[in-house]
Amino acid sequence: MTPQQFSQQTESLCRRAPVVPVLVVQDTAHAAPLARALVKGGLPALEVTLRTPAALDVIRAMADVDGGIVGAGTLLTPEDVRAAKHAGATFGVSPGATDRILDAAEAEDLPILPGAATASEAMRLLERGYTVQKFFPAEASGGANMLKSLSSPLPQIRFCPTGGVSLENARDYLSLPNVLCVGGSWVAPTDMVKQGNWDGITKLASEAAALR
Ligand code: 3PG
Repeated sequence: MTPQQFSQQTESLCRRAPVVPVLVVQDTAHAAPLARALVKGGLPALEVTLRTPAALDVIRAMADVDGGIVGAGTLLTPEDVRAAKHAGATFGVSPGATDRILDAAEAEDLPILPGAATASEAMRLLERGYTVQKFFPAEASGGANMLKSLSSPLPQIRFCPTGGVSLENARDYLSLPNVLCVGGSWVAPTDMVKQGNWDGITKLASEAAALR
């Protein structure tokens, strides 16, 4: 698949719901009930970050959940890309972008949402054909104002801002013409996951799904 085709895929993924949950899951036993709770609340696309030893098993377990679209986040190396693909991830997300990561994603046919935080980073990805990008870290890099400023010279790039996005500020981003969806961890707080408070997580997901 080409970067252009990846971008079509990541765009349609982002159009499924206004929020992509960013998940840090410690315990594989939590994977399926957590995915079911988020899907039930209206958030089908799930980003499982490769930040815990359990992450690849979590992806495997979530891949079986009806209605879920499971991807891997925090892809930092070509090995991460391959491991994510083999675990059943159907998309990938990286906080930034390197040629090695992009080469690996293209070789493995894993649609990737690569990260950019400046005009130059976004332009480099655009040169390679990536018109859909993650804007990270969103709040620390200038937030909605920064994305608004990028939309004039770079209207062909669409973003998924992530990092510091919350229920309170998500609408500031979602109302911009160059934002497709946002990513955030607030819909799956660590405490609620640990307690198995799946109804609470479905409620947070429903609020997030209603943002658009
Ligand atoms: C990410 O992993 O993309 C971000 O760290 C998620 O950021 P948040 O925890 O501020 O939502």
